[in-house]
Amino acid sequence: MLVHQIYTFSPLRNFSYLIERKDKKAVCIDPFDAKQLISFAKAKGLEIDLIINTHEHFDHICGNAGIVEYYGAKVMAHSNAKGKIPGVDSFLKLGDEVEVLDGKLKVMDTPGHTFAHLCLKYVYKNKTNAVFSGDTLFSAGVGNCHRGGEASTLYKTVSEQFMTLDDEVILYPGHDYIENNLGFTLDREPSNTCACELLKEARSSDTTKMRTTMKMERKINTFLRLNSEEIVTGLSGDVSSEEQVFIRLRELRNNW
Ligand SMILES: [Fe+2]
Repeated sequence: MLVHQIYTFSPLRNFSYLIERKDKKAVCIDPFDAKQLISFAKAKGLEIDLIINTHEHFDHICGNAGIVEYYGAKVMAHSNAKGKIPGVDSFLKLGDEVEVLDGKLKVMDTPGHTFAHLCLKYVYKNKTNAVFSGDTLFSAGVGNCHRGGEASTLYKTVSEQFMTLDDEVILYPGHDYIENNLGFTLDREPSNTCACELLKEARSSDTTKMRTTMKMERKINTFLRLNSEEIVTGLSGDVSSEEQVFIRLRELRNNW
């Protein structure tokens, strides 16, 4: 799989992705800055012929128009994005596939951050190697739910579709929020030495690249650690189910 992760230097610390296809074509996931992406593609000898938006928020679609204008690229998005994303050529549903070099991208239906949110599995020889997770799962966090989403739905998506991924699956998120997210992890779970080490590393290293795995996320992502005694005992209110723990954590993260 040839994945180019492109840090946009946007205030929201967005990542866009280019994934190579046959004949030097490429699919762009969540184009933010069309100019930046076009010059990147040119430098690699690639032509962006396809765009996939993980969801309808402006910072995930604002590069669409420039790329469509320059390359005539086709735009794909979740079927619930009808009327929310301009100029979509085809709407995607669970299980739809897009061919890329050495494999395919397979659509996951992942509501919660919004109800028009999809993620993409990179599948090679029937094995999931990576997931492009948009604003559903970040390194050390999950997306917020106050711009068209719902926390209980996000819990269902994360628990059923992400907690079940193999350890070695690589996660490519839509933003770099790692420093703030690890701060929240340590606020909830001060004894998490792995998060502590990673925070030191994140503060001192190149923030324009992010590559994490589900194995790492299971250690540092509070929203995947819903059975941690330290996390659960630190919460007020009724948190007798995993879902209640998740929702309470999401509420706390909103104001953290
Ligand atoms: Fe978003």
